[in-house]
Amino acid sequence: MEKQWKGDGAGTFKKEYLGSCGQNVIIEDGVRIFHPENVYIGDNVYIGHDTIIKGYYLHPLTIESNCWIGQRCFIHGAGGVTIKEYAGIGPSVHILASSHIDPDDPNEPTLFSPLHFPSITIEKNCNIGMCSSIIGDVTIGENCKIGANALVNRSIPSNSVAVGVPVKVIKKRVKKDDPS
Ligand SMILES: CC(C)(COP(=O)(O)OP(=O)(O)OC[C@H]1O[C@@H](n2cnc3c(N)ncnc32)[C@H](O)[C@@H]1OP(=O)(O)O)[C@@H](O)C(=O)NCCC(=O)NCCS
Repeated sequence: MEKQWKGDGAGTFKKEYLGSCGQNVIIEDGVRIFHPENVYIGDNVYIGHDTIIKGYYLHPLTIESNCWIGQRCFIHGAGGVTIKEYAGIGPSVHILASSHIDPDDPNEPTLFSPLHFPSITIEKNCNIGMCSSIIGDVTIGENCKIGANALVNRSIPSNSVAVGVPVKVIKKRVKKDDPS
């Protein structure tokens, strides 16, 4: 028999259902959080309207303190997602920590092949441009800026500005008065 789909529910939740939830956490109207028991939120976090956060039973999805998550984002925590302090995640950013293993036979539906669980880390003080997608086993280093509409499918070293599909580093961020 083909795989039978099951509904996930509406994603309605209360803050007390979360793995943890700090002080001054603003969760706007329309936000849905699935598996909230595996979602950990620090202090002073903003989550914009209509964002969907899919926690997963296997690994934690963590949003550290002082982060701003834009409107209509989609964050799937299957293999583990960690968004460290002071991240700005632009509107409509998609972060997906799961994918299907390529089946040996291309006639087999990829959709039904087993899942692979990469993990995604956004180190502290990053700014992720709106409508970007982040997939695969990826770490975005500290202080990075990712351009709008980027496809981040590889790790990015700290202090980089990176843009495009697939993403490429176009320059390094240095202190304005640093001559190096
Ligand atoms: C990537 C970004 C940070 C770069 O800003 P910047 O350092 O001022 O760089 P510049 O505007 O000088 O652009 C440098 C080059 O990259 C290109 N570029 C800039 N942003 C780009 C993007 N998103 N995708 C592709 N190319 C881009 C520019 O056209 C320019 O190319 P050129 O030298 O051939 O003309 C900015 O363009 C951007 O996309 N910001 C995201 C804004 C956003 O979504 N914010 C919400 C977050 S909360």
